[in-house]
Amino acid sequence: MNTPLIVGNWKMNGGLETNQRLLDDVRAGCSGLGRCDVAVCAPFVYLGQLQTLLTGSSVAVGAQDVSAHEGGAYTGEVSAAMLREFAIRYVIVGHSERRQHHGESDSVVASKARQALAVGITPIVCVGETLQEREAGRTEEVVRRQLAAVIHVNGHCISEIVLAYEPVWAIGTGRTAAAEQAQQVHAVLRAQLRAASAHSDRVRIVYGGSMNATNAAGLLAQPDIDGGLIGGASLKAADFLAIVAAGVGRASALR
Ligand code: PGA
Repeated sequence: MNTPLIVGNWKMNGGLETNQRLLDDVRAGCSGLGRCDVAVCAPFVYLGQLQTLLTGSSVAVGAQDVSAHEGGAYTGEVSAAMLREFAIRYVIVGHSERRQHHGESDSVVASKARQALAVGITPIVCVGETLQEREAGRTEEVVRRQLAAVIHVNGHCISEIVLAYEPVWAIGTGRTAAAEQAQQVHAVLRAQLRAASAHSDRVRIVYGGSMNATNAAGLLAQPDIDGGLIGGASLKAADFLAIVAAGVGRASALR
């Protein structure tokens, strides 16, 4: 079984003081955890602060985006090599908020994943359908298309990614996919990964979309849900740590 992975996605939230308080609590709550990997993905400007505060802890640092380009005249962009200098372990790519508000296409997302992999950072590739697409019965087609673009560009390196299934209608809405509903899509993605790479069973497929302290254990009890990508609930230490505890529970149950 893959070690569960719980990732906080702070989105555009935070401040030097609040970050410090939150990270002190998360760091303390995660010490001596055992079999659950934990990461926090913060806005770029705070990555130096996170690196300082989390060095020597079991909590890894992640970014929320990376440029699709290696370097050069791309004002406002941050390259994968720059992230590497801050000991970044993970980077979220293709979050639906970036696809929606910043027009990121499947191929841009695939290039971002490639830039991350090239410097040894694990991309957390997000896929997920909108409500309209779900209601039209197009969920599988959409997530398969989004993942296929990343497989196409990254070839056998696909076994080095983390995949996040995040139904757009469940993000920040308090409306979680039922555990069985999420499991069904995770199984489709798992099959697609297996067809692409012989080593893909090591890919963790995490769920995101209103995961919280109450529903985490049920989601993490599903065979193909290897962890969570947590937005709102990652901003409160107690809620985030309760989800981490559910991740530890998955590890013990499936050992
Ligand atoms: P949420 O966000 O947990 O607030 O729904 C998840 C995400 O967008 O990654």
